[in-house]
Amino acid sequence: MDQLPLETQESPSLPDNLESLKEIVSTCHLCDLAKSRKNVVFGEGDPQARLMFVGEGPGATEDETGRPFVGRAGQLLTKMIESVLQIPRSKVYIANIVKCRPPNNRVPTPQEAESCLPYLLKQIEIVDPKIIVALGATSYRWLTGDKTPISRIRGHKLPFKGRILVPTFHPSYLLRNPSKKREAYQDLLLIKELLWEE
Ligand code: URA
Repeated sequence: MDQLPLETQESPSLPDNLESLKEIVSTCHLCDLAKSRKNVVFGEGDPQARLMFVGEGPGATEDETGRPFVGRAGQLLTKMIESVLQIPRSKVYIANIVKCRPPNNRVPTPQEAESCLPYLLKQIEIVDPKIIVALGATSYRWLTGDKTPISRIRGHKLPFKGRILVPTFHPSYLLRNPSKKREAYQDLLLIKELLWEE
């Protein structure tokens, strides 16, 4: 994947608050996903969350509603947050690598991911979470530039711009491969422990 290191992708021209950033993103036409989207899915949650989840990109339900992770995968993610981590979903922040739905739920192209990444990086800077959870291979690769398979890197506690990054399986993958839920559960226990540590 041809990706610039995260540090070189900062975008100083973007606003430092979520409301103004959302306004800019909602009219974005930097890539062709703008042509087919119904709604931009900016992200949602506690603007001061200590825990942030980063998915790949909106699916059909998210495109319809303008909200992240509200389809089947989203229901599983909500269960992981509320039943295992035991925190209300509204207390975390949820965003994606790309803010517009890739047609037929395909993986975002490098051009799409690259043009959208500054928005996510700004969201991370503003929310300032202690822990970021990369959901799945695409999220992990675009955040870090590292191509290590998610099955090898999941469950690791990685330094990330003064924060902690924990990659884990994407909930859609867990729906297709329920036997992997065991490992995802272990990752959630690690995240829970890290949240309690000061
Ligand atoms: N999958 C994602 O990666 N993000 C969403 O918002 C929904 C499904």
